Amino acid sequence: MNFADVSPGLRASTRTARADLTIVGGGGHVGIPLVLAFAEAGFRVNVHDKDQEVLAALQSGRLPFIEVGGEELLRRALSRNLLIFTSAPSDIAPGAPVIVTIGTPIDEFLNPVRKVVQDCVDALLPQLVDGQLLVLRSTVYPGTTSWLDTYLTRKGCKLKVAFCPERVVQGHGIKELRETPQIISGTTQEATAEAAKLFSHVVPELVQVTPEEAEFAKLFNNAYRYIEFAIANQFYLIAKSAGLDYRRVEHAMKHNYSRARRIPSPGFAAGPCLFKDTMQLAAFAQNQFSLGHAAMLVNEGIVLQLIRGLGERYPLAEMTVGLLGMAFKADIDDTRASLSYKLKKELLPRAAMVLTTDPLVKTDPELLSLDEVIARSDLLILCAPHRAYRALDFAGKPVLDIWGALGGANVIG
Ligand SMILES: NC(=O)c1ccc[n+]([C@@H]2O[C@H](COP(=O)([O-])OP(=O)(O)OC[C@H]3O[C@@H](n4cnc5c(N)ncnc54)[C@H](O)[C@@H]3O)[C@@H](O)[C@H]2O)c1
Repeated sequence: MNFADVSPGLRASTRTARADLTIVGGGGHVGIPLVLAFAEAGFRVNVHDKDQEVLAALQSGRLPFIEVGGEELLRRALSRNLLIFTSAPSDIAPGAPVIVTIGTPIDEFLNPVRKVVQDCVDALLPQLVDGQLLVLRSTVYPGTTSWLDTYLTRKGCKLKVAFCPERVVQGHGIKELRETPQIISGTTQEATAEAAKLFSHVVPELVQVTPEEAEFAKLFNNAYRYIEFAIANQFYLIAKSAGLDYRRVEHAMKHNYSRARRIPSPGFAAGPCLFKDTMQLAAFAQNQFSLGHAAMLVNEGIVLQLIRGLGERYPLAEMTVGLLGMAFKADIDDTRASLSYKLKKELLPRAAMVLTTDPLVKTDPELLSLDEVIARSDLLILCAPHRAYRALDFAGKPVLDIWGALGGANVIG
């Protein structure tokens, strides 16, 4: 798409526009809530993203994905003329602090793709000036912030480099930003102080550490969560292998017993962050992160074990299987790294037919309506426990629900 065509006045106004802050990746899942939080605090924000379609959507007042409470804030920010949209690095607002929120993936070896940060910063460098604050907010491999500082110094750039990781839960960033302590770190005292001052406008509390401590804190947070999900999933699989209904065991474990309250329900532990960040940590630990790897085996393996269990119980080759919920978790529209798709892929050669549905996902042309999937399926699997599924009876068809989200005689735990 030609961005200039979508928004004719945009580039011209951008060149002269000044902003209080530039957010690179400002059209992403981390970027948008941050943009809106700063705009709500009165900042004029340069929303910088290479994805021009996302920028066009934002500019027209539409969020490209579910972000609870976001539409109202977007409308307000637009009406107060607090958002400036840019897509070419040469157009970013001059002099203002820059916060980088781009994706930081892992590669086919499960190692971090460290070059994405370098490429992004290289593209921005011609516009940055000495003394300007550059904040990394993406989740990065340990040592990245200090590496960036050295890299910039070698190039003769005297930027203030900080790392202030995002820790909010996807889809609820606006509320959680207001409630979550912000980890602040910088490669110099000046950088730390400036980052702290900036974030104090939008977060309730600051936790100041060194960049490396901050990098590990973020990765440990995510790996811990991933391991927690794996524990529940492994308990579920063990209970099933003993022929038990895990829900009854779970109830006995948790009912009015505070030490077990935080054990999550079993389910698909998926999405763009937890697996990826656990593997970043494993890469740092020279693949000696045994708990992290064990969690990965359980969380990724549960899909295959469910299929094996169903195959022992049902003649899958003669059945149409319907998958309910293709997002990576409940009540969002994001399918990135969703295990629902792994399940679909593994079921396709085994079942007579696999049908999929999701009330929120808009990006998959193969999705059918819920009614059609229920009507045509012999067996249903609850993949993402969207609230919309809670009160349905699924026409008496058997439904595999490992989450414990549904009730009814036809539900298989
Ligand atoms: N999604 C979450 O809930 C969450 C939570 C905490 C931390 N994180 C971390 O935040 C980072 C971003 O995650 P995300 O889910 O927002 O990713 P995302 O893909 O939704 O957003 C990234 C955005 O950056 C843009 N982008 C990428 N490279 C760019 C460049 N060079 N110049 C301009 N724009 C560019 C993309 O077009 C995209 O819109 C990752 O490191 C992730 O691990 C994500």
